[in-house]
Amino acid sequence: MQVRLWAAGVLAIVAIAAAAVTWYVHRIPRSPFAAELRAAAPTASPEGEYAARLADCVACHSTADGEPFAGGLKMGTPMGALYSTNITPDPDTGIGRYSLADFDNAVRRGVAKDGHRLYPAMPYPSYAKLMDEDVRTLYGYFMSTVRPVRRMSQPPEIHFPLDQRWALALWNGLFLNNDPYRLKADHDAAWNRGAYLVQGFGHCGACHTERGPAFNERALDERSDKYLGGALLDAWYASDLRGDSRLGLGEWTEQDITQFLKSGHNRHATVYGSMLDAFNNSTQFMTDDDLAAIAAYVKSLGGGGDTTTFTYDERARDALDGGDLSARGAAKYLSQCSSCHGQDGKGRGDLLPPLAGNASVLERDPASLINIMLNGGGRIVVHGVPDSYRMTPFRVLLSDEEIADIATFIRSSWGNGAGAVQASRVRDLREVTDPSSDRVIVLRLR
Ligand code: HEC
Ligand code: HEC
Ligand code: HEC
Repeated sequence: MQVRLWAAGVLAIVAIAAAAVTWYVHRIPRSPFAAELRAAAPTASPEGEYAARLADCVACHSTADGEPFAGGLKMGTPMGALYSTNITPDPDTGIGRYSLADFDNAVRRGVAKDGHRLYPAMPYPSYAKLMDEDVRTLYGYFMSTVRPVRRMSQPPEIHFPLDQRWALALWNGLFLNNDPYRLKADHDAAWNRGAYLVQGFGHCGACHTERGPAFNERALDERSDKYLGGALLDAWYASDLRGDSRLGLGEWTEQDITQFLKSGHNRHATVYGSMLDAFNNSTQFMTDDDLAAIAAYVKSLGGGGDTTTFTYDERARDALDGGDLSARGAAKYLSQCSSCHGQDGKGRGDLLPPLAGNASVLERDPASLINIMLNGGGRIVVHGVPDSYRMTPFRVLLSDEEIADIATFIRSSWGNGAGAVQASRVRDLREVTDPSSDRVIVLRLR
């Protein structure tokens, strides 16, 4: 009798727990806009377009040759591919039937109108920081200014059991912080604006912060020294934006940072790879005040613990100048790269970036260096005009061994002091960035 009672008790608890979990994973979160009816007509405003620029919605929600915001960008993930959706205001295939509260739940909480959970490839963990008024402004832009396009969104190619979207509600419970950005009284207005733009709108951490095993960003703000400490995503290594001297922005002035984000170049580096998506569609359109705020915030981050500094060493230059090509990769560097990047590795002006002391070259993970050698840097477009200088893609010109040798030469010359590169790593990146491969992860954004 006792045993039966006990069993019945356990069953009841299990049933209640199951019901609670079922409710939790399917519930529609409560948006602060829930009480507002559709009747409050969304309004167009210049601020709305600017907000969409700051958030870079267009980069993911379009394809290179498709209509803006009509979706269809294929994003490779370790679990399978998924596609960005149509977020034009078309009522049947887009978000035309979304109320402000529905839109808010998608953007800040990762829940679509019908209640299905979004994969965090949509950067709602960052957008969760957006303030209410900015969400309203964005909504006004999408509903009143964006042209509706009829285009069905494709379902993800993610297989059981990872296709069970309800499980993402548990992920959200663990990793999503639902508090909008709160001004920090111990910092000035520019720092706060910078923090808000970097953490929220700009979702810089989505690429620049390392992720854990569940694809969660390890930190969402400056309280952790993992925040913006550099990370590998989609075969590009997004550099350390903290204060470290060699690998981070320790040697960059605030002016260097604003120039990089506004023009795509500065004396240290050029935008390329996935940073182009942020630059081409977003950062170049930011106002000077907003860029200065971002620079002030980023420069306030301490170093991540690497205390070494870069000192230029003349030996590699002297060897190349004197015809000594005995170092591994030296001859190939001389014939393939030195015409643009120089025998001294210092590049030329702002358009041909230096390789000496360049974080992209020195990174512990050489993914970006290999990737740009294979595929080139991508097209920088400044206010509609494509850049005239481009890095040559060497995919067909150089073998895996030759690329590894050149990379090793660059990483060990002019004082760089970074480790050798293996041909196997080049082979792997060659495959995943080859559009015809079935392991492809290359994103072709606008
Ligand atoms: C880094 C890429 C990325 C950016 C940037 C991005 N999105 Fe998304 N978004 C996605 C992906 C991918 C999905 C689909 C996720 C899924 O199917 O689970 C999505 C889904 C959505 C949905 C759900 C639509 C539906 O019907 O399923 C909405 C609404 C949305 N995004 C709006 C926005 C807005 C507004 C912005 C800018 C503030 C934005 N997104 C920026 C990648 C992105
Ligand atoms: C889609 C991914 C992605 C996003 C989003 C992104 N970045 Fe980057 N970023 C990269 C990659 C990859 C690099 C390395 C290539 C390069 O130097 O352009 C990089 C490089 C940089 C650099 C140069 C660092 C150096 O040492 O050379 C700065 C500065 C920078 N990003 C700032 C930002 C800021 C600020 C934001 C947010 C507004 C941001 N990034 C958003 C991917 C991204
Ligand atoms: C025709 C001139 C040219 C040649 C040849 C060339 N590059 Fe480049 N490289 C560029 C330009 C221009 C950029 C800036 C990115 C862009 O616009 O594509 C760049 C960018 C880079 C970067 C990224 C630096 C940063 O942080 O912005 C690396 C690394 C690099 N090149 C390595 C090489 C190597 C290695 C070779 C030889 C295999 C090489 N380049 C050959 C012109 C060239």
